[in-house]
Amino acid sequence: MRLHLIFGAPGSGKGSLAKLVHEKFALTHLSTGDILRDSVSKGTEVGLRVKASMANGTLVDDDTVNGIVFARLQDETEDVLFDGYPRTLNQAIALDDFLSERELDFGLVVYIDVPVSVLESRIVGRRVCSNSSCGAIYHVIRKKPLVDGVCDSCKSLLVQRPDDTSLAFHARMDEFNASYGPMLEHYRGKSNFRQVDGIALPDEVFSAVSMLYEEYV
Ligand code: AP5
Repeated sequence: MRLHLIFGAPGSGKGSLAKLVHEKFALTHLSTGDILRDSVSKGTEVGLRVKASMANGTLVDDDTVNGIVFARLQDETEDVLFDGYPRTLNQAIALDDFLSERELDFGLVVYIDVPVSVLESRIVGRRVCSNSSCGAIYHVIRKKPLVDGVCDSCKSLLVQRPDDTSLAFHARMDEFNASYGPMLEHYRGKSNFRQVDGIALPDEVFSAVSMLYEEYV
């Protein structure tokens, strides 16, 4: 098993890209945001604990997130693509330790770079499928469903995430600016680190990312 990472700011497109990479390269897709949202919707102990902070746009504490991730990895045998993890230096170091204890390797570490000026409109215009096992991602202007408010894939209703308000977006960007810098530096010098320009059209970004994965998978 190898671990691939895809990360970037809120709205950089990592969730949309990770779904496409997962389909094309048959990697197990693990999004900590999706796992945490699922816990919230099921009302689990973790979900009840993190619900308010997620809606406000605050990061969940490292111990909780690391615990979820390592439990998922314990029995995993396929290559895994992480989307949204790690996102603090402490999480990155804990993941390094987890991998080295098991003599496992990193695959590709991809950072999606998008100027801050376009992120807010992507976030507040995003609509997602309410069926968590589908999770398709749309946008009210740039990626409309065929029928307004209805998922093309599974026909469930589309909803706005509670943290996709303008207020929560700014809180998420504050968290991003505080935590991502040191984590990015942790990976930037490594030979498997790649930075991708995420401002292009979705198909173009996916094509650029696909070329990188073709070298590795
Ligand atoms: P998470 O779900 O990971 O949210 P995020 O990092 O804020 O990222 P988003 O899902 O908002 O955006 P994205 O980059 O996936 O963009 P998308 O593809 O959807 O985390 C949510 C919360 O969970 C966190 O705030 C925190 O509380 C908690 N959490 C999760 N992981 C954690 C961790 N490791 N540690 C601590 N807490 C954690 O695209 C956005 C929109 O843009 C869509 O509408 C899409 O259609 C559109 N779009 C995508 N690409 C393009 C493009 N190229 N051009 C134009 N539009 C595009």
